[in-house]
Amino acid sequence: MKKLIILSLLATVILISCQKELSPDQANGVEPILPSNLLSYPKSLPKHITTSTGSWSGGGLDTLSLNPPGNKITDAGATLGRVLFYDKKLSYNNTVACGSCHLQSNAFADVKPLSRGFDGNVTTRNSPSIVNAAFQTSYFWDGRIAKLEDMVLLPLNNHIEMGIEKIENLEKKLESTSYYSKLFNDAFGTPEITKEKLSKALSQFIRSMQSFDAKIDQGQTALNSSEKKGEFIFNRNCFSCHQGANFRAGSENGNTKNSTSVNVNAFANIGLELSYKDKGLGEFIDKREGYFRIPSLRNIEHTGPYMHDGRFKTLEEVIEHYNSGIQAHPFLSRQLLDWNTGTQPIKMDLTAENKEDLLNFLKTLTDQHFMNDERYSDPFVR
Ligand code: HEC
Ligand code: HEC
Repeated sequence: MKKLIILSLLATVILISCQKELSPDQANGVEPILPSNLLSYPKSLPKHITTSTGSWSGGGLDTLSLNPPGNKITDAGATLGRVLFYDKKLSYNNTVACGSCHLQSNAFADVKPLSRGFDGNVTTRNSPSIVNAAFQTSYFWDGRIAKLEDMVLLPLNNHIEMGIEKIENLEKKLESTSYYSKLFNDAFGTPEITKEKLSKALSQFIRSMQSFDAKIDQGQTALNSSEKKGEFIFNRNCFSCHQGANFRAGSENGNTKNSTSVNVNAFANIGLELSYKDKGLGEFIDKREGYFRIPSLRNIEHTGPYMHDGRFKTLEEVIEHYNSGIQAHPFLSRQLLDWNTGTQPIKMDLTAENKEDLLNFLKTLTDQHFMNDERYSDPFVR
């Protein structure tokens, strides 16, 4: 018995010292656990989204967004994307994965206002939920990148997020694992690991993340009386911006940094400040200080803290902001201006009961299936 304890102690000491010697460019031994048959990923939209005619219908969502030419979703491609998304080896020192900041249990947002990167430093903005991202035509809070395939490589090089200096080193590191050659071969027909394939697979996985299975998806008749009253309040005060099947504004028209045809209506200034430190769209476009992308409210119950800087912990605080806290920023979006004065922020004058109803309506956007769906879960968890 004593011998056994000493032996296992010794084994632990050896294990720990081995781990310490791991150089940042080396992979460690952890392998993903995948089912023997490929899981089937969605490649089209559910029927109620493409055919419904109610107020939450379509909203510009189409199947082509899921399967852009040159990178259609395949089960093997999305599976590779899933492994990459959760693999900490994608960071410089094997400490952070995409899934460390985008948590499935929180509809792929982070629970912290700002997220911790590979070196312990924090991001400058709140990690957004990345659900239904296929339908966006620009990415990030300020829409500065137009193509998902370009976007997904940026966190790797980011000096706060994952800290990979040369993508070639990452390709080599992934080659040294026991599992990537096969996964790349299954997905793309050749085992070589390249950044193009890496970006395609991550994009397929992200586009496959669909969340259209909440209570609201069963139609208005499924709502109870409080939720219905909440929907009425929502339609009056919020729908002008958070609209369509995804509860966000329509197409952004691409890269806001360089494009002159940006649809600024997909962004808004909601008067969080009188003067914004983080200027959002205002960094690239005149008179757009404080404009941030109108986010989807799908699963909003679980994606807090809220806003681009994670300033509000709860939905109650968010509702109170819209009800009584909007600041008279010079570029405040017109939907939030008082109709009489035209210059002062709107006062929604919601009663305690109104706020409760609105909150109950927002909770009908929660899709539990999505947040527990094996296809989007961490394959490294034992
Ligand atoms: C350290 C935390 C962190 C890590 C790691 C991370 N992200 Fe993010 N992600 C963020 C933050 C913060 C933003 C918002 C940045 C901004 O708007 O300027 C973001 C934005 C995004 C968006 C855009 C969402 C939108 O609504 O426009 C996508 C997609 C995304 N990340 C995917 C990934 C992928 C794929 C990886 C892994 C390769 C990854 N992220 C790794 C924190 C992280
Ligand atoms: C003028 C357009 C506009 C209107 C009207 C509007 N919103 Fe928003 N909403 C936004 C924008 C833009 C953001 C992101 C702002 C930021 O981070 O600076 C946002 C953010 C949010 C968030 C946080 C999302 C996240 O992922 O952090 C919630 C929740 C929300 N809005 C709910 C509502 C509700 C409820 C109403 C009605 C009472 C409403 N909104 C009215 C544009 C609008």
